[in-house]
Amino acid sequence: MSTFWIGTGWKMNKTVAETRRYIADLKARLPDDAGADYALFIIPPFTALAAAREAIGMAPVLLGAQNMHWADAGAYTGEISAVMLKEFDIDLVELGHSERREHFGETDATINLKVKAALRHGFRPLLCVGDSAEERAAGASGAAVVRQVKLAFAGLTKSEISRCLVAYEPIWAIGEGGVPASPEEARPVHVALHVALKELGAPSVPVLYGGSVNLDNAAALAGEQAIDGLFVGRAAWSADGFAALISRVMAARKAATSTPAKAMPAIG
Ligand code: 13P
Repeated sequence: MSTFWIGTGWKMNKTVAETRRYIADLKARLPDDAGADYALFIIPPFTALAAAREAIGMAPVLLGAQNMHWADAGAYTGEISAVMLKEFDIDLVELGHSERREHFGETDATINLKVKAALRHGFRPLLCVGDSAEERAAGASGAAVVRQVKLAFAGLTKSEISRCLVAYEPIWAIGEGGVPASPEEARPVHVALHVALKELGAPSVPVLYGGSVNLDNAAALAGEQAIDGLFVGRAAWSADGFAALISRVMAARKAATSTPAKAMPAIG
C-alpha cells in the first residue's frame, strides 16, 4: 500500500496548553499501526510549535508550520523565517493556503520564493492550491490550480519538486459554509494536478484533498485513486475527531485492499 497522508491545520486556534492536551489525547487514541503506510501530521500555530514538538516525542506524527517568510532574516516586522522554524525541528511547512492568499496578500510569486526557501532549509513544502467558485462555475478548476502549481514550482529542479506535497483545497469547500467536493468532483482536478506534476518531472508528488473533510465523507474521498491524502481543518481540531478520522480511513483502505478485486473492465 502506498503512503496515505492525513493531517490537520489548526489555523488560528489552540494555545500552548490546548496543544499539549490535544497531542496527549491523540497519542492515547492513535491506532497501533497508524505509523505504517500512513503519514500523519499536525500544523499548529507558531506559538505552539515548541510544545507540540516536545509533546509528540516518538509518536509517528509529523509537525508543520502554517507559513514562513522567504528571507532568512531582515526588516519584516511580524514575520517568521525558516531559520527560526528550524529550532522547532519541523518537518513540513504549509504554503499558499487560500486564506493567506485572500487575507494577507500572498501571490504566486511570493509563494514561489517561500517554496524555494523552505527547500533550501530542508523542510517539505505543503503547497495549497484552490479554485474559486467563479472558476468552478466556468469549468476552469483544473486550469486554475495547475497554473498555481506551475507558478509556485517555477525554477525548481525535478528533484526539488519531488520533495513537495500539494493539497487541492477548493476555496468553495473550505471552512464554515463550505460545501465539500464530492469524490467525483475532486477526481478530475486531482488527475489534472497529477498530469501537470508528471509534466514537471515529479510524478510521485502526493496530491492531498482538503475542504470540509469529515467523518461522513473521509472514506469515500480516501478511496479515490487520485487522492493521496486528506488535509483536514475543523473535523480534526479535537483529538477525538482526528483519531476517529484516521481510524475511519484506515478501516476503509484495509477493507478495499482485502476485498477480492471485482472483474474490472479492461482499459485500452
Ligand atoms: P475545513 O476542513 O475546516 O474546511 O478546512 C480545510 C482547510 O482549510 C485545511 O487547510
